Amino acid sequence: MYNYDIPAARAGSDSVKWHVVADGVIPMWVADMDIQAAPPVVQAVQQRAAHPYYGYPYTEDELKNPIIAHYKKLYGAEIDPEWLVFVPSVMPGVAAALRMAGGDFMYSVPMYDHIRALYKETGLTVIEVPMQRDENCRYTLDIPALEAAITPAVRAMILCNPHNPVGRVFSREELLELYALCEKHGLLLISDEIHCEFALDVPHVPFFSVSEDAAQHSVTVCSAGKICNIPGLPLGFAVIPNAELRAKFIKQLDGLQACPNVLTLAAYEKAYDGSCDDWKDGLRDYLRGNRDIAEARFNAIPGVRTGHNEGTYLLWVDCSALGLEDPAKFFLDNARVRVNSGAMYGDVQHIRFNYGCPRAQMVEAIDRMEAALKARAAE
Ligand SMILES: Cc1ncc(COP(=O)(O)O)c(C=O)c1O
Repeated sequence: MYNYDIPAARAGSDSVKWHVVADGVIPMWVADMDIQAAPPVVQAVQQRAAHPYYGYPYTEDELKNPIIAHYKKLYGAEIDPEWLVFVPSVMPGVAAALRMAGGDFMYSVPMYDHIRALYKETGLTVIEVPMQRDENCRYTLDIPALEAAITPAVRAMILCNPHNPVGRVFSREELLELYALCEKHGLLLISDEIHCEFALDVPHVPFFSVSEDAAQHSVTVCSAGKICNIPGLPLGFAVIPNAELRAKFIKQLDGLQACPNVLTLAAYEKAYDGSCDDWKDGLRDYLRGNRDIAEARFNAIPGVRTGHNEGTYLLWVDCSALGLEDPAKFFLDNARVRVNSGAMYGDVQHIRFNYGCPRAQMVEAIDRMEAALKARAAE
């Protein structure tokens, strides 16, 4: 049994999320977890660090084989070793795929902020299309709206699945429908699946596995950064079944094809070789518990609403009925809780609340937020 309740003690860990903690602020923002990294990974890194040779590593099979076995076991998805290309981390992989497509690109909003920043980084033009939201705050891709927004200059579609920030895990049917649109208009589908092992209710479907044709016209990018809580040991991999696309992608990396360092290599072998399976299962159970409490608590606060989070550990909370100019700022100033402002993802009237932390920390944060709103209502 693993203990996910250990209070976060991140002083000295160079955490960007916790640099505000001196103020007594509870940090519920940046998407890493306040839960210790997977113990088999920690052990492997410590053991490797103790070995006093840090020469150039040999990586290919040592790393590819566990990833291939993992995808087969978890998703029943076959990966040919040739299809795997290592990248410095997920975002450089997504950016390289975009540059390879070489035209305008589009995606549905809300959307993860670094994807929203890609137009600046690549110099390409972006089209953002709102998702549909139903009365239960459940989001779906608006395929007709996406189609209506396509111009002849659009060459690529970015998907984030599981979705940051709306927490959807898209079904095979939804993925096929999106692919049909991309196929009709000749768009490359780039699927960011960094949160794939946080599918909490329904199975995740890797994009390259939805159909043979989809595999041939897509780039799927992933990493163990989120699931093992090791984003500070950066690495990612792209799955590109189409040889021609793969060659173009590697060219776009422009010499930046990742050669994992020896510590990352040790971490990633353990992340995918099955050593962390029990820890990951326990983590998902724990996060389901956090999620259920967070959803119930937020939905019980007047003026606050959230939908059901199917994946990630990030809750997208609608604060529009509170009548606040900037809800995230309100919670920082009045509750001493730091959440991400929805403005980063395309809607300032939402907040993104990271529940990947010990339960007591999460409950304390929600207690403070609720108390701050009560105090405001009483004024
Ligand atoms: C959807 C998504 N993609 C990519 C990243 C970052 O990936 P990396 O640090 O591997 O570049 C994040 C981090 O929060 C994310 O949520």
